[in-house]
Amino acid sequence: MQAVPTVPTAPIAFGIDIGGSGIKGAPVDLATGNLLTERKRIPTPEHSTPEAVAEICERVLAFFELPADTPVGVSLPAPIRYGEVLFMANLHQSWKGVNADQLMTASLGRPVSTVNDADAAGYAEVAYGAARNQLGTVIVTTLGTGIGSALIVDGVLVPNTELGHLEIDGHDAESRASSAAKEREGLTYGKWAKRLTRYYSVLEMLFSPDLFVVGGGVSREHEEFLGLIKVRTPLVPAALRNSAGIVGAARLAAPSHSS
Ligand code: BGC
Repeated sequence: MQAVPTVPTAPIAFGIDIGGSGIKGAPVDLATGNLLTERKRIPTPEHSTPEAVAEICERVLAFFELPADTPVGVSLPAPIRYGEVLFMANLHQSWKGVNADQLMTASLGRPVSTVNDADAAGYAEVAYGAARNQLGTVIVTTLGTGIGSALIVDGVLVPNTELGHLEIDGHDAESRASSAAKEREGLTYGKWAKRLTRYYSVLEMLFSPDLFVVGGGVSREHEEFLGLIKVRTPLVPAALRNSAGIVGAARLAAPSHSS
């Protein structure tokens, strides 16, 4: 009998990124880090309880016809330790103490692993993007509703750093320097860049990093403000822009690709 040729299936995983304003998902080609289709985005419900958000994640996933064994990863804007949400800054407070792995696994009807959104983004930038092959200390920041951070040393992620909540000049840093703060206060790029200079200078003093990667939706507009941030450390825009959360969550969910 003739042997049936095995068709190599592209390694694929599905990533969902839960943000303060939108919940986005897409299948990811793990060989390249590219999204295989357009992202599906549904606005984050105003009453953003774990149940309400999990239901949206279910709708995002159901939009795609995925094989049952496709790994699914979800990123959340909170520190997550062994699945447990430690605190929640920008979604409903009832997230605190919830086991997000268990919640998402039950809601999506398949094993799901959850990860902090900035860690996912940082991981994706190291695997496929702006921090690829970068040795030393890399800090990836995401500027959005809050400020997320990922600390990566020689390619190894130190999770849950929460550097957006450093207290700087008496303020929670993200309340002054996130892109939501820029919008809220109607800051020009110039004024915002001054606050970002202060923020990145403190990170520079604390970590002496080799590279800063600036991500989040606003990294699309990097030409408007990146050059105005005055620090010694090289500062580059995220290569994966705002799909980094999806890509990192997907890759971390696929065991053979997560190292
Ligand atoms: C949260 C972080 C998150 C960041 C970006 C912060 O307020 O505490 O966990 O990574 O926002 O979403």
